Amino acid sequence: MELGIRLISSTVNSIPKPHSIAIILIRSTKMGRYFITGSSDGLGSLAALRLIALGHAVVLHARNAQRATDAASACPGSVAVVIGDLTSLAETKALASAANAHGPYDGVVHNAGLYRAASGIFEVNTLAPYVLTCLMAKPKRLVYLSSGLHQTGQPRLDDIHRSGYGDTKLHDVMLAKAFARRWAKEGVEAFSMDPGWVPTKMGGASATGSTEDAVDTIVMLALGEGAAKGKGGRYFFKSAERKSSAIADDQALQDRLLDVLGAISGVTAPA
Ligand SMILES: NC(=O)c1ccc[n+]([C@@H]2O[C@H](COP(=O)([O-])OP(=O)(O)OC[C@H]3O[C@@H](n4cnc5c(N)ncnc54)[C@H](OP(=O)(O)O)[C@@H]3O)[C@@H](O)[C@H]2O)c1
Repeated sequence: MELGIRLISSTVNSIPKPHSIAIILIRSTKMGRYFITGSSDGLGSLAALRLIALGHAVVLHARNAQRATDAASACPGSVAVVIGDLTSLAETKALASAANAHGPYDGVVHNAGLYRAASGIFEVNTLAPYVLTCLMAKPKRLVYLSSGLHQTGQPRLDDIHRSGYGDTKLHDVMLAKAFARRWAKEGVEAFSMDPGWVPTKMGGASATGSTEDAVDTIVMLALGEGAAKGKGGRYFFKSAERKSSAIADDQALQDRLLDVLGAISGVTAPA
């Protein structure tokens, strides 16, 4: 972690020269390093912009070279863009190595998601965050983008490949709770959140929620500040804790989810 000094200056123009004085506020800020999946667009890109504006280092992620170029031009000041299509297990494993090469991270945000797609929903929304979490060096904080629709989801652990969107978003809440529990002693905090129905490519133009509110929540959790302080394992909406589906609290189901994902991916969750 770098210690940055930020200078904010303004001149009091009402005082005639040569008496004009510069007011300089010096604020010491702990600068961190963050990795955000699916940061070529939508909330991932907006959260990256916010973190960069706050002075943090951000590594972006995109599905291919063209989207990497798009991601970098949408987020001036990012440290790097790593590439991997999360529908491919091989590419997701390689992505973990590429992301690790730019780490270690204070926070990793598992944001990439698919909503209406003929295929790939389970791979992008459930399997990829599991594989990346297991293969990347442990950050201080993990954030999993879930959805209010997880409330109607089911674990479907006997037929997980057929999971629908709400099921995969329940998995994201379960992953946060499972890793928060497993890695708490090592100081790792894992959170999940609902960004609300917001106007991105996924949410569509008629979405009624606020991307600002969603980004506020992502950034609060990534930094471990505000309502997130000491609340590893919890689920958030609009920067406040919210109750998640009771199914997600079942520790035996959480462990089974890790086992099922381990068997499918060949990647065992570190103890
Ligand atoms: N928007 C909402 O109303 C809403 C509501 C509840 C939850 N969420 C959750 O919030 C998160 C962010 O959603 P968003 O609204 O920002 O969506 P978005 O605008 O569609 O952006 C999704 C991001 O994920 C990336 N992505 C998708 N499939 C990928 C793949 N196979 N490989 C690599 N990257 C892939 C996209 O890349 P491309 O740009 O190349 O497609 C894009 O960068 C998701 O997890 C979503 O489930 C959103």
